[in-house]
Amino acid sequence: MTRSHTIAILPGDGIGPEVVSCALEVLDAAETRYGFTTTRTEYAAGANHYLETGELFTEVQDQLRDADAILFGSMGDPRVTPGILERGFILEMRQRFQQAANVRPVRLYPGVPTPIAGLTPERCELVIVRENTEGAYVGQGSTVHAGTPNAVAMQESLNTRAGIERVVDFSFRLALGRRKKLTLCHKTNILVAAGQLWQEVVADVAQRYPEVETDYVHVDAMCFHLPLTPERFDVVVTDNLFGDIITDLGAVIQGGLGVATSANLNLDATAPSMFEAIHGSAPDIAGKGWANPSGAILSLALMLGHLGEGDAAQAIEAATVEVLGSLPALAGADMGATTAELGTRIADIVRSGRANTELVPDSLLATLAALPASR
Ligand code: IPM
Ligand code: MG
Repeated sequence: MTRSHTIAILPGDGIGPEVVSCALEVLDAAETRYGFTTTRTEYAAGANHYLETGELFTEVQDQLRDADAILFGSMGDPRVTPGILERGFILEMRQRFQQAANVRPVRLYPGVPTPIAGLTPERCELVIVRENTEGAYVGQGSTVHAGTPNAVAMQESLNTRAGIERVVDFSFRLALGRRKKLTLCHKTNILVAAGQLWQEVVADVAQRYPEVETDYVHVDAMCFHLPLTPERFDVVVTDNLFGDIITDLGAVIQGGLGVATSANLNLDATAPSMFEAIHGSAPDIAGKGWANPSGAILSLALMLGHLGEGDAAQAIEAATVEVLGSLPALAGADMGATTAELGTRIADIVRSGRANTELVPDSLLATLAALPASR
């Protein structure tokens, strides 16, 4: 019987539609080559849709819930007040669909230029797992005496044992299938209440995974260890806001936001997981053909790995790496090809079966979803 998957497509705003269209061309190629099919439904979520209808996530959640996975472009537009789409759509989806783990690989691929002098691909292959539903992102807070010289703003960070435990347990399982090292990244010397809870949970869960070594790094120290000695890290687990910040640094190390990808994973199969490039909507270059579609195409690979299409995922990752390595610049007018041309190049390699999987022999994107169940 042919394997079939139901996918919700959210191209979104800015460069989102361009890069998602490349990912869909690659998906066509992968289906032909690897013998599976998808049923795709596209949803008009994002700034235009919001400005026309006032609809955010709440209105589309029932339709999206039925999908096996969601492929997401990007969201954000200068015409919409900052925060409305980010909180009303992206954060709502992460919370309502309980996408508890935001998995962001930091991998320097062969042939891809990095701004870190002397860094080699062998030294840079780690995964950051960001708690994705709590912390400062719950949006709790209050302002008193707003607009006066006595204004007081309080912004809270919510940390639950259950929320931390599920993402820590996932991170240990991930580490178990890799180099068996888990690093907690926090700021326990200042955020003592939340920090202590995170440390307690890591210590408790570590008992179930005696094979995995644990380590701890403060988030500020992470900002120099990550670029200078990334080989110290295998799996890093961290709080929502710290994860947001250090994964942008991780993206820079691996060649920029255009290359970095992420999975927002629902860990108990109660709702679909969502796959997206890390870059934003980049409205300044939208429609110019200057965006690098690799982040979106690698998010497709992550999604296919998650859906059990590991061979297709690995081929897409390898094809993307091959094309990335041939570019004179990773984005912009000097990229040497347009967004659409790059998508077609990668799709052609996948369709022909010529993808050189030696480029990424240990594809994380292909294996991520095949994690053993929780103990
Ligand atoms: C990310 C983004 C989002 C976040 C924004 C767009 C809400 O920066 O996915 O890292 O802060 O989580
Ligand atoms: Mg971010």
